[in-house]
Amino acid sequence: MSEILLSQLAHVELISPKPDETVQWMKEVFGLEETTREGQSVYLRGWAEWLHSSLIVTEGREPGVGRIGWRTYGPGDPEIVAQRLGGTEEAVGWVDDWTGHGATYQYRAPHGRQLHEVFWEVDRYQAPPEERDPAIPNRPQRYSGRGIGARYLDHVTMPTANMRGDIEFYKQLGARHTAQTEAEPGFSVFSTLTCNGIRSTHDMALVPDFSGVTGRAHHIAFRVDQRLDVERAAEVFLANGTPIEFGPGIHGIDEITYLYVREPGGFRMEINSGGWVNTMPDWEATTYQAARGNPGASIYRNVTPPPGFHEAWPAADETAAAQEKEAMAQRREFFGAVETSRR
Ligand SMILES: [Fe+2]
Repeated sequence: MSEILLSQLAHVELISPKPDETVQWMKEVFGLEETTREGQSVYLRGWAEWLHSSLIVTEGREPGVGRIGWRTYGPGDPEIVAQRLGGTEEAVGWVDDWTGHGATYQYRAPHGRQLHEVFWEVDRYQAPPEERDPAIPNRPQRYSGRGIGARYLDHVTMPTANMRGDIEFYKQLGARHTAQTEAEPGFSVFSTLTCNGIRSTHDMALVPDFSGVTGRAHHIAFRVDQRLDVERAAEVFLANGTPIEFGPGIHGIDEITYLYVREPGGFRMEINSGGWVNTMPDWEATTYQAARGNPGASIYRNVTPPPGFHEAWPAADETAAAQEKEAMAQRREFFGAVETSRR
């Protein structure tokens, strides 16, 4: 018997210390659509997304990620997750109702301590008549053509102090571990996981965390259709005064065409397209060796992530940052380029 508990990454809550600027940038530059506003949160979605919202911008003291939402594969599945985690340190509990989705069970990753939630009942986006495209009913609304036109939420990448431990936890809830990059044998510096065959490269990724800070996030990714859309996105970012942090390029580990920027609140956003397709339920995670020119980071093996690319939020305080820097210095095979370019 097989079991599929989760159907998709449904939403991520982005905490912003500059919510007005973040929301405006998400709409005008990133190209998201606003669904509604409630309290300190603004609910947004990609133009082709059927769910009520995929990015929830909430005001907060510093950048970071709040709730990470997963829709289950069917009714009753949230209860299965609740039973499986009941009585553990990971269990948080039930919330009767949230904007955009129904009864929700919340839990935390055992080591990264990020807050996840699962639900089945969802509100579908209903576009006003003038925004519908009757000729293409697969789309909830017509193509907006605004900004970079981010189409779908793709994945979220999270630091963890125990990557192996968190991978085993997520596998209990149906995730497949698809690939990893090792800086040295047994030390993974990047892992990709997916809960379904829809986004088969990954809908979640993990990176190591040496800071001791928990509940951190590294970036949120949205998807466009074509590699050329990513290159056009780079032009749109530059034209709107958004500096490019890394890319465009093609990762080796997932073969996605990537581009990373920071939104006005300071958090890192990725836009990507394409990617390796792997729908095999019995797949054993592949391992890339960073020592071999780091093909995981770049399929061309000629670029490494820039200085500061390891930064995650909430930011580390002075002590934690020193701890992180010291640990990174000991992992020079992977992070050496970063350290060298800082000098
Ligand atoms: Fe990513």
